[in-house]
Amino acid sequence: MIEQIKKTAVLNIKKALDLKGLEDLRIKYLGRKGELTRMLRGLKDLSLAERRRVGPAAQHLKKELERLIAEKKNELITNYQLPITSRFDVTRPGHRIKLGHIHPLTKIEEEIRHIFLSLNFSVVEGPEVETEYYNFDALNIPPDHPARDMWDTFWLKQSAKSGLFARSDLQRKSDLGQKNGRLLLRTHTSPMQIRYMETHNPPFQIIVPGVVYRHEASDATHAFQFMQIEGLMVGKDVSLANFKYIIEVFLKKLFGSDLEFRLVPHHYPFVEPGVDVYMKFSGKWLEVAGAGMVHRKVFEAVKYNPYEWQGFAFGFGLTRLAMIKYNIPDIRLFYSGDLRFIEQF
Ligand code: PHE
Repeated sequence: MIEQIKKTAVLNIKKALDLKGLEDLRIKYLGRKGELTRMLRGLKDLSLAERRRVGPAAQHLKKELERLIAEKKNELITNYQLPITSRFDVTRPGHRIKLGHIHPLTKIEEEIRHIFLSLNFSVVEGPEVETEYYNFDALNIPPDHPARDMWDTFWLKQSAKSGLFARSDLQRKSDLGQKNGRLLLRTHTSPMQIRYMETHNPPFQIIVPGVVYRHEASDATHAFQFMQIEGLMVGKDVSLANFKYIIEVFLKKLFGSDLEFRLVPHHYPFVEPGVDVYMKFSGKWLEVAGAGMVHRKVFEAVKYNPYEWQGFAFGFGLTRLAMIKYNIPDIRLFYSGDLRFIEQF
């Protein structure tokens, strides 16, 4: 009997796979109703001679099984605590890490920057909070000019804190023509024409990408905030023909070599003559830029001699170019922050 129990118990303990299995074995042999326990309890019914024979052997086995179980327990615990790498399941599927990407407006801006850099233009940027002088006056748009309606914008209330009270009409009048006059959110990137020419001498060619603001109701093609790319090239004999060549290269690089475009006369106070640029897109002519030869009044404002220098300026609606290029029907989608839209690019 004892030999029989010993044989299977020792074997089973050796084979135990985990702590739970080992505990089951302990109960099976040494528990209150365990096989060995029952046998020890039954000793009292045996004859003295048999008790003498079986008793010590059973006690001995009990000790031995307790020792074996304790040993096995230690072994299982140390195995369980092996470094995690040895239990690493290489067949499990991994976690996909979501990568972000740039916004379509940033994407097209970068592409446009590269095209103009390859045409030897420099890229400059300017402030979005402008003064009335740079946004209007210096660009030959006097206070009573109807063009100011077209460029209606957000005016900044100047607080007592910044030392500039909400101004009286009288003060406002004295602001006119002052470079540090009333503040507004720029309605176009054209103020950078003035700022750049004030601090640089011709000849040069620059582009100015940036955000602009208009006080207008938003719909599918209008937003109170959008992006433009201004261009300005000034030299001794820069002409409208040069302009046409530059934008032809630009538009064809951006939209493909079969692109069609045309120039249509248009009035802007800061150019003479002025044009609008239309490009053909799926059978329709779309206005994509205003442009023209820099007005002499603008040159005078920055103290260039209009008899010595001439140049062209243009302002593309960058947001509109992005809508055409990526076939986006509604300008508001750009600013919606909707991932279903953004993730398509
Ligand atoms: N600034 C003009 C606009 O916002 C565009 C323009 C730029 C026109 C340069 C002529 C020359 O509509």
